[in-house]
Amino acid sequence: MEEGNGMGGFVAGLGAALGLVAVIMATGAGADPTPVAASKPASGLSADVTPPVANPAVVSGNPGAAPLPVASAAPPVTPATTPTATVASSPPASVVTPVVANPGAAGTPNGWDRNNAQDVNQTCAACHGPKGEGGKGGEYPRLAGQIQAYMERQLHDFKDRHRINIPMFPYTQARELPEKDIRDITHFLAEQRVSVTVPAVEGNVAMGQEDYLAECAMCHGKEGEGKPQQEGSKKHGPALAEQYPLYLQRQLNLFATGERNNPAMREVMREVSAERMNNIVAFMVTLERHPGLAREQALETQRRILEIMQGLAAPAGGGSSQ
Ligand code: HEC
Ligand code: HEC
Repeated sequence: MEEGNGMGGFVAGLGAALGLVAVIMATGAGADPTPVAASKPASGLSADVTPPVANPAVVSGNPGAAPLPVASAAPPVTPATTPTATVASSPPASVVTPVVANPGAAGTPNGWDRNNAQDVNQTCAACHGPKGEGGKGGEYPRLAGQIQAYMERQLHDFKDRHRINIPMFPYTQARELPEKDIRDITHFLAEQRVSVTVPAVEGNVAMGQEDYLAECAMCHGKEGEGKPQQEGSKKHGPALAEQYPLYLQRQLNLFATGERNNPAMREVMREVSAERMNNIVAFMVTLERHPGLAREQALETQRRILEIMQGLAAPAGGGSSQ
């Protein structure tokens, strides 16, 4: 009887695939990229049935629309719903390992422990996302691709209560996070390449850009890529590109009031008016952390959807044991 459902199986499969695509679109696929991996991509069987027509149409129709939305609609900051970071945070699963840029067989470039980092990350991921892409619309900041030494220092600052934050504090206590863990997890997060679509902010982007280049770029980089601290130079600062505006604005307020204590930023806040700062934030959220990566990820998502659909459309042999 199994043989009989060649066509039926195909149709059902296609239906399921469409359902899946719908789900993926609805959830932004961010939720759980796992099922994707589960579906066997190329189960060589019945390649003859591949529905060449259906696939491309459906596939190119949907996710194609997704990739560009850097400056998504206008709604400035709506943290309640998180429709924003979706597209980009989904495909990370596919981008998981490619960055393993260590030639040495065993270790990592700086001799940090990747396995331990991944263990530690399970705790952090609950708030910051599996690849440090951030969460809850910026309630939890993006950490992916942030400068390693900066993150290490922040963790020490939280630990010493130099930087006060209630959610972060317990995770930095020695029992929770010994020095080795701090080193490993910050290296791990620093090497994550993720593209996150952050919400747009209303403001004068052109003026913001001008101000950003004049007032901020020397420490945070022209593209908001951040500048590592150099011996003897005060011109350094964390990456700001593709950081959630909700988080950026909160930090700026904390610097302004002195609750987050940093002399460089304190001075900046004294010199730049609130209105100008808002324009600067409006500009900052247009910066790409890894130029071109958003597009790459969108294409990868498209490729995976196609793969799923082909996997479903081709009834895997032997599956019908009962
Ligand atoms: C319960 C949620 C939660 C967990 C779990 C958590 N964090 Fe955080 N983390 C936060 C919040 C909230 C902030 C923002 C603090 C603020 O607004 O000043 C933050 C900020 C940070 C920052 C500073 C980012 C920046 O740009 O300055 C680093 C670094 C960080 N977390 C690392 C970690 C690591 C590493 C772990 C796992 C060991 C972890 N966090 C676990 C909630 C969490
Ligand atoms: C003289 C160097 C310098 C300049 C100029 C500067 N910053 Fe900073 N900025 C820093 C440093 C250093 C930090 C990290 C502070 C810390 O360690 O807590 C920082 C942190 C920040 C943060 C918090 C980032 C995070 O991940 O928590 C934001 C947002 C920020 N700066 C925005 C700006 C903007 C906007 C401007 C221009 C108007 C600016 N900065 C100009 C040095 C600078």
